[in-house]
Amino acid sequence: MLSLHIKIFDSMKTVLSGIRPTGNLHLGNYYGAMINFLKMQEENKCFFFIADWHSLTTHPDPALLHVNVTNILSEYLACGLDPGKATIYIQSDVPEIAELYLLLSMLAYVGELEKTVSFKEKARQNPDNVNAGLFTYPVLMAADILIHNADYVPVGKDQEQHLEMTRNYAKRFNHRYGIEYFKQPEAYNFGQELIKIPGLDGSGKMGKSEGNCIYLIDEPKTIEKKVKGALTDSGPEGPNMPKPDYIENLFSILKVVSTPEVVAHYDHLWNTGETKWYGSMKKQLAEDIIKVTTPIRERIHSIKSDTVYLRKIQKEGAEKARESAGKTLLEVRKIMGFKSF
Ligand code: TYM
Repeated sequence: MLSLHIKIFDSMKTVLSGIRPTGNLHLGNYYGAMINFLKMQEENKCFFFIADWHSLTTHPDPALLHVNVTNILSEYLACGLDPGKATIYIQSDVPEIAELYLLLSMLAYVGELEKTVSFKEKARQNPDNVNAGLFTYPVLMAADILIHNADYVPVGKDQEQHLEMTRNYAKRFNHRYGIEYFKQPEAYNFGQELIKIPGLDGSGKMGKSEGNCIYLIDEPKTIEKKVKGALTDSGPEGPNMPKPDYIENLFSILKVVSTPEVVAHYDHLWNTGETKWYGSMKKQLAEDIIKVTTPIRERIHSIKSDTVYLRKIQKEGAEKARESAGKTLLEVRKIMGFKSF
């Protein structure tokens, strides 16, 4: 019995992921990341955190930082993250991550960082604030992941390149110090392609900075209004035409919130070339989104006001995360040659 238990424990994978507290959680965060956090916490050793240091690269407002962290923590719990199953913590409560970030930065080359897509995008959006934190964002992210030596990192499609960079730093560390210490963490979606939830404005991904989000906390009326306002046209120009991007986007959201029958129904209407059904599809889409978000929204409100509970979760999460992080850091220091007298 004991040996069986040890075997199960040994085969457990370490899972880690985080979300920046730059606003409320939206459908992209939910279907790109949270859905997998919820499934993975059942069978793995999981670490889910709030990336507040990362948020400073673009959102340094002290009046909003704590509000946003409180929002995300409440939303994590309202979605069903369970502190009894996963370690839930705030990045800035774990200073070990900052030290590993510094150590890993010796393995990160400027040329590579300059080519990072997220850096180039953010620098273009915000040319007056191209700070060094933004530049080394992938190094901090690698420190988040490697501090617990994670196997799997459930994330959406937009984080794929950051994971590739994390693996490079892990490989470089192992190679430089001649030891297979760090694992090669993978962006994970149960063997499926990573998800990208589009916006409702036909412009690519749903994102806070794109201003095209449906938030888990949105009231039903707001969701109806947003969906109603989604970009469409006068209908297919004939049977079996390819869908333009903005229509494909609506179908992509329908696919994650509705049943396969509903999707098949509207696909059929599209393929027959019929017109005048977009209104019905939008109504159905809004209804199905509201079905998913309503119970979460109701829980968010009650959790957010319970500061005693939130404080307890923060403290316990930080303790557990620091215990794991501290072990890694000690080993890393030793491998790198730090010694005390
Ligand atoms: P962030 O805060 O932008 O997004 C959090 C998670 O939500 C996913 N996501 C999406 N997935 C599908 N479609 C979308 N439209 C969409 N928008 C967001 C993201 O892929 C992500 O999984 N750098 C990270 C935070 C982070 C992190 C980490 C993640 C910091 N350290 C370590 C994993 C491991 C970020 O900015 O995510």
